[in-house]
Amino acid sequence: MNPFWQTDNITLYCGHVLDVLQALQAESVHSIITSPPYWALRDYALPPVEWTAVSYVPIVGLPEINVPAWRGSFGLEPIPEMFIGHLVLIWRELHRVLRADGTCWLNLGDTYSQDTKWGGKSSHKNAHSCAGGYATARNLRTQTRLKSKNLCAIPWRVALALQADGWYLRSAPPWIKPNCQPESVTDRATTAHEYWFQFSKSKRYYWDPTAVRVQSGNGWHGGTFTNERKQQTQPGLGHGPRNERPGRNRRTSDTWNESLDARIADYRAYLAHLEHIRDHGGLLLDEVGDPLGLMFSTRGYKGTHFATFNGALIEPMIKASTSGRGCCPQCGAPWERVTDREFIPQPDVSVAKGIKGNSSQKPMDQSSNWDGFPRGTVAITTIGFRPTCACYDHLYRALPQAHSPRKRHQRQISGNWWKRARRHPGLSDWPVEPCIVLDPFAGAGTTGLECIRLGRRVVLIDLSEEYCRDHIVPRLSAPIQPILF
Ligand SMILES: C[S@@+](CC[C@H](N)C(=O)[O-])C[C@H]1O[C@@H](n2cnc3c(N)ncnc32)[C@H](O)[C@@H]1O
Repeated sequence: MNPFWQTDNITLYCGHVLDVLQALQAESVHSIITSPPYWALRDYALPPVEWTAVSYVPIVGLPEINVPAWRGSFGLEPIPEMFIGHLVLIWRELHRVLRADGTCWLNLGDTYSQDTKWGGKSSHKNAHSCAGGYATARNLRTQTRLKSKNLCAIPWRVALALQADGWYLRSAPPWIKPNCQPESVTDRATTAHEYWFQFSKSKRYYWDPTAVRVQSGNGWHGGTFTNERKQQTQPGLGHGPRNERPGRNRRTSDTWNESLDARIADYRAYLAHLEHIRDHGGLLLDEVGDPLGLMFSTRGYKGTHFATFNGALIEPMIKASTSGRGCCPQCGAPWERVTDREFIPQPDVSVAKGIKGNSSQKPMDQSSNWDGFPRGTVAITTIGFRPTCACYDHLYRALPQAHSPRKRHQRQISGNWWKRARRHPGLSDWPVEPCIVLDPFAGAGTTGLECIRLGRRVVLIDLSEEYCRDHIVPRLSAPIQPILF
């Protein structure tokens, strides 16, 4: 199939997603990030397309649902079960196209069953007055077989059907929208989030958590709180740094206070992180730095496309699921990060000074049922990247270190070997190509834009010629400043 537009790093196809996917090579993309049309939300005014009959299991252990062949637009199926069937059909093709070590991110919004508004059964008010095809789409919400006012739970029904179809459902981080539209309902909580579902094809897959880890210079999550606490002063209490006050011996209370200082420094830094997320959006992390959710406002887009998301929202997905260094030009295996991990132990106030810790730091002895496992934080430093396939064997053999015991497969060569080898200037010249991200519902091309900015290649698909011509091509043709990893 001929692309609609192609550059070195961008391939854009204009066509029905199933037809295009069938023409793509198996196992050819590293990651899929997409937001398809939601069921019964809007009519994109696209030409109807053909859908074959499909059978799928809605939840593991339940009987199959059989969906007949149909002609129409994706998202405007008469019942949710048919929409889910079509999504399963598409995801079967995506499963073929994704590499075995790849991940797939799916964003879907939900809807409520209703029979009173937007031209529903009992009232036809507004049916013809709303623009953007909303009335046609919303009419469908009377066909859910649910009582009016029920949340249809379509994203979760989709996630469970894909899980039953063979995908690994790995996580479902909420996308929290601080700027969501106020809702006029008064008898339920406002919905200000949607889900992103993370699927994988295999049990083990490429994942680079370090690429999205937030290193805080203040000590929080950076693992440096033991140093940081020494800099803390408490001007409000009328004294300077306790350890440096001349003319007095160190007291037991100093140790106690220092442990508090450490916690306060930690919480201050965490507070700064939360304030930053509140004001600018970002990856919402817990106190130890593990991801909790995505907090991003939807972003206005000057074009006439309805459903654009904020590019920053998908940055962590691109970074964690594709290698920033790139992949092998022959087999596509992603290079993986080599890191140094330094354990920074938690200061043990009880053993050193014979006092009990405060409530946030238990003494590390039998009085608090300490299990003997050292407590502390781990500081992670990136040393470089290494290939994960055997295609580089001939280059490996040419390196001076190659006399070290040779293991059969490149992946089995120890991390330590690569830590030494990184100093060899030749390593940085080994050939790599950028990893490939696929967005099968490209819309205004936001995924494409973000991928190019982050130095990845991208394959985009959209059925709308207008979006391809008037939005994606102009947006992606403009100069984009890539970020070097
Ligand atoms: C929700 S939008 C994607 C928005 C995108 N995430 C963004 O922020 O720009 C869904 C897109 O799917 C496209 N689409 C609908 N049916 C399709 C089909 N059968 N094949 C390919 N694309 C389709 C629509 O043209 C629309 O642009």
